[in-house]
Amino acid sequence: MNESDKRLAALAAVAEVRPGMIVGLGTGSTAAFAIAALGEQVRAGLQIQTVATSLATEASAREAGIPLIEMPARIDLTIDGADEIDAALNAIKGAGGAMLREKVVAAASERMIVIADGSKRVAAIGAAKIPVEILPFAQAFVAARLAELGGAPIPRAGFVSDQGNPILDCRFPADIDHATLAAAIDAIPGALGQGLFLTEVDAAYIATDGVVTRLERGDASA
Ligand code: A5P
Repeated sequence: MNESDKRLAALAAVAEVRPGMIVGLGTGSTAAFAIAALGEQVRAGLQIQTVATSLATEASAREAGIPLIEMPARIDLTIDGADEIDAALNAIKGAGGAMLREKVVAAASERMIVIADGSKRVAAIGAAKIPVEILPFAQAFVAARLAELGGAPIPRAGFVSDQGNPILDCRFPADIDHATLAAAIDAIPGALGQGLFLTEVDAAYIATDGVVTRLERGDASA
């Protein structure tokens, strides 16, 4: 992982922010660079409102002086990191455990941009663990269903989400169909959210060795 590449990707995405926008703020070490850059711009006079995807991001935004609002019905632009992203803009998120709120924010967004250093770019997603947030009451049941799907679920030790829920990290077979898998997980009662982002990402800025590449959904390359 390369911190200066993370920063470059973040700055490229922040350049899309316009005055008056409602901006979704992602979670993680790459999104932190976007929050820092937006904080500078806000202090220089940029007027925006933002929605945080986690309590940690909320605290960072507040510290940076960025105006925060409650989750609205619609967001203009969201900037968030990813654990893996491929050329078709399929992503896996949730290593930080924030994927439930991140997906709500992404789904509400007119445009959702992933920012990442080149280590996150993969030929096809699936090597990263897919996290599933669960209702505590349903843990044994959901774990059994995830095992039936081939996920080998492992509870994330010593972790509860911002909602107070546990997370099961799953490793599915590499050749699994992710759209079918996402629908199957979403259909398990007690599974509250999972880290497959297959339709939400509109664009990605990925920086490798100081060079930023933009991927757009619908482009020949994406
Ligand atoms: C948070 O739960 C995640 O979805 C992060 O957005 C993702 O793990 C990327 O984080 P980093 O930018 O720290 O790698």
